[in-house]
Amino acid sequence: MSNFHIKHLEEYFQVYRKSVRNPEAFWEEIAEEHFLWRKKWDKVLTWDFNTPEIKWFEGAKLNITENCLDRHMLSRGNKTALIFEPNSPDEKAQHFSYKQLYEKVCKMANVLKSQGVKKGDRVCVYLPMIPELTISVLACARIGAIHSVVFAGFSASAIASRIKDSDCKIVITSDGSFRGKKVIDLKSIVDQALEECPNVSKVLVVKRTHQPIEITKGRDLWLEPLLKEAYPECAPEIMDAEDPLFILYTSGSTGSPKGMLHTTAGYMVYTAYTFKNIFQYKETDVYWCTADIGWITGHSYIIYGPLCNGATTVMFEGVPSYPDFSRFWQIIEKHKISQFYTAPTAIRALAKEGVNFLENCNLSTLKVIGTVGEPINEEAWHWYDDNVGQNKAPIVDTWFQTETGGIMISPIPFVTPTKPTYATLPFIGVQLALMDHQGEELKGNQVNGRLAIKFPWPSMARTIWGNHKRYKETYFSTYKNMYFTGDGALRDEVGYYRITGRVDDVIIVSGHNLGTAPIEDAINEHPAVAESAIVGFPHNIKGNALYGYVILKDTGESRRQDNLKNEINQIITEQIGPIAKLDKIQFTSGLPKTRSGKIMRRILRKIAEKDTSNLGDISTLLNPECVQDIIDNVV
Ligand code: WTA
Repeated sequence: MSNFHIKHLEEYFQVYRKSVRNPEAFWEEIAEEHFLWRKKWDKVLTWDFNTPEIKWFEGAKLNITENCLDRHMLSRGNKTALIFEPNSPDEKAQHFSYKQLYEKVCKMANVLKSQGVKKGDRVCVYLPMIPELTISVLACARIGAIHSVVFAGFSASAIASRIKDSDCKIVITSDGSFRGKKVIDLKSIVDQALEECPNVSKVLVVKRTHQPIEITKGRDLWLEPLLKEAYPECAPEIMDAEDPLFILYTSGSTGSPKGMLHTTAGYMVYTAYTFKNIFQYKETDVYWCTADIGWITGHSYIIYGPLCNGATTVMFEGVPSYPDFSRFWQIIEKHKISQFYTAPTAIRALAKEGVNFLENCNLSTLKVIGTVGEPINEEAWHWYDDNVGQNKAPIVDTWFQTETGGIMISPIPFVTPTKPTYATLPFIGVQLALMDHQGEELKGNQVNGRLAIKFPWPSMARTIWGNHKRYKETYFSTYKNMYFTGDGALRDEVGYYRITGRVDDVIIVSGHNLGTAPIEDAINEHPAVAESAIVGFPHNIKGNALYGYVILKDTGESRRQDNLKNEINQIITEQIGPIAKLDKIQFTSGLPKTRSGKIMRRILRKIAEKDTSNLGDISTLLNPECVQDIIDNVV
């Protein structure tokens, strides 16, 4: 029996050593004993970080949905696979058993097939957190189509650029979405996006809000009647281990978003194995992750990881503040949640509202509580521990990335002693390194550097869709023979890791990754703007908020700065989405630049943080005189 479920610290160290000493043998054992294969692999791992090329379980044949659904039919056919908790507490929750979910996925798969979708085709899924989102994702996987889920908060132009980048032929969306008090007109956002995407030939529309929408004849189809007619069985497409499973876009420090490509077998093995251990999932538990399926956390830890383990997974359509700030806690009580997984930004927002919202809710079913997406500050950690975990349910602070597919650093609950703000130890099979400024590995404990990974793990992204060169440059060119994460981290005296934040131009706002470049591009489209630079500054709820330095064109007009601020945020909302709006905007006449013309964001960051004590040597700048002016006018 392999070590699928780790139960104490000694066992963790022992299994970790085994996984590092002989990774191939270790992962082979896990893969062999816990998954359904149509054919076993010929080779466990082929890798070269220079090319870079990574292949896990080459030669194996499988379908991930057989692992998520079919194989549970006999043992857990009537067990609840998915609980849907709607936006409004007045609407009834829906429970889907494994058998029902299986049928719904097969029907959706047959609908996709009837619309001409084939293995390898890209399908854009732009849906709110409703069951059809999970069903669509699995239906794509069923027939070997590559899903590209776009978070339903993104704007028309953000969708359009993603659809074009991966050349999706079909979009699945809904008439609208409910979010708290708001009803959002999703379909018209899609319509607007598709003006730029002539290759999209079909739009399948889920009815959710029942608001009137425009139907483009020949292109748009309501899903409901198609599903009604569809056959509830669909033989899975048999996939190669390295066949693509999905594309998920993430922001980069420069340029357009990167379409991270994940493949089938390694992703399945790693997400299932991490899920089982990091949440210590037991058969009767009800697990709830509050992330949106539009992000990697939702892909790996609402859908694939839990379903591969035969778990009951909850998806929530709404927001933590509606109808009031007790919503999360009431859901925990209502569904008797055992594992609760959320983001630090949500914890901070809820903590601010006070414990009275928790007091009347029964949280005693919680066994493990988790956080993900950004560093958690000490105060929020303790609030979570005291009030939600009630000092009984351990906190798993889980570090990972869209690129890593699965959780890479995390305590194992009841196994790894936790430490506030620390993601603690590398997960099994994960070989971390901290690097100094010279590119040398920092050995030993009590060191602080940049986080890299020395050896492949099964769920790592294999490329950037359509741009392997960028994949190599972004992740494998900073350090020789290592994957570079873009994060800084420190290792304490016992070897625990704490993530200190991004070291590149990616800013994490409320747990969402935002690249500075696309936001600056959007701002620069305003006719009055000559140039701009975005930095993050600490914000007590969002973690970071955005600060924009903007140089206006000299048009001779008097500056209507308040209007301009609104207009700039409006453009950002249209180009990217409301999550990228600026909290502060400072109009300035210059931006500090190096002699080669690169904006010195480090200086701008310090000024935005209102810490000008140590700006470093500014005399080498091209235009040092602008610095004082910026400091004097900081917002
Ligand atoms: C940050 C989200 C500190 C980190 C799963 C990473 C974290 C980026 C943590 C990836 C954590 C994620 N502690 N920082 N527990 N988890 N991050 O791709 O900067 O949306 O590089 O994946 O989020 O964001 P992404």
